[in-house]
Amino acid sequence: MLGNLAKTASIATAALAMVGGVMLATRAAAAADRRRRAAVAEEPRLCVVSGGSRGIGRAIAKGLVAFSPRWNVVVTASTAESAARAAEEIAAECDADGRVFGFACDVTDDTHVAALASFVADSFGRCDVLVNNAGVMTEILTDSVVDLDLDAVRRSIAVNTVGAMALTRQKAPISILGYRVSKAALNRFTTGLARELTNLAPGGDVVANAVCPGFINTDMTACFADIGRVSSKTPAVGAITPLYLATLPSSPDIPNGKFFAELEEIPW
Ligand SMILES: NC(=O)c1ccc[n+]([C@@H]2O[C@H](COP(=O)([O-])OP(=O)(O)OC[C@H]3O[C@@H](n4cnc5c(N)ncnc54)[C@H](OP(=O)(O)O)[C@@H]3O)[C@@H](O)[C@H]2O)c1
Repeated sequence: MLGNLAKTASIATAALAMVGGVMLATRAAAAADRRRRAAVAEEPRLCVVSGGSRGIGRAIAKGLVAFSPRWNVVVTASTAESAARAAEEIAAECDADGRVFGFACDVTDDTHVAALASFVADSFGRCDVLVNNAGVMTEILTDSVVDLDLDAVRRSIAVNTVGAMALTRQKAPISILGYRVSKAALNRFTTGLARELTNLAPGGDVVANAVCPGFINTDMTACFADIGRVSSKTPAVGAITPLYLATLPSSPDIPNGKFFAELEEIPW
């Protein structure tokens, strides 16, 4: 019994010692963490705000400069004049001389984007935050999607989507996002079109739906063979759901603005 108690006590002591050890280690780690945080807090930080010459981008740039003296901000705009003016004004408003830089970067121009990346690398050697804010709204919101100005659409996608991807690509590797993004946009076009068509032709006379055919063996997917992905599904399989939708009789219950795969409605 005594032996057992002694054993229990020694196990308890050992356990306490261990807990104490963990506590010591935890305290040491916390102190190290505090030291690391303090060091990081003193390190200069760099943020690039695309489209920082006015509006929300400018407010983000200004907010960061005002937040802490360790933040440096590069504001970009499509012209050197507007970028430089914004940088000067933000620096003056925040009393932040030498911390705000203007740089001309039309996000639709690859040479501008590459020049911005070189400027950031050469001048700062880091970019802690990239704010993909540059954007345009090229159409009037009341425009009908069935009466699209295609040049306006191309411009929107070039600036708002591809522009953001071009800047991001300088910082992080992105692979086949382009295809997926283009299809996501097509889905959004389908829901907008469906709404328009309901207004134009109530009662399901004209509808718009989207279909994901799945991974089908066609010329498009032949390149996947290189990474060992080959589909056994023929183009005829991919055609099943589109054929089903195309041949639905007109009725008030006909699907409109929906997304389908393998004959079933799926979430967007
Ligand atoms: N305002 C809203 O209610 C709202 C709502 C949702 C989302 N957003 C998004 O928030 C972002 C900022 O909007 P905002 O309202 O602040 O717009 P804004 O006042 O019109 O500012 C747009 C900024 O983007 C820049 N820009 C436009 N085209 C460019 C290009 N090709 N290359 C580089 N920069 C370009 C503009 O600079 P330059 O013209 O000088 O080049 C400007 O600095 C946009 O992405 C917008 O889609 C806004």
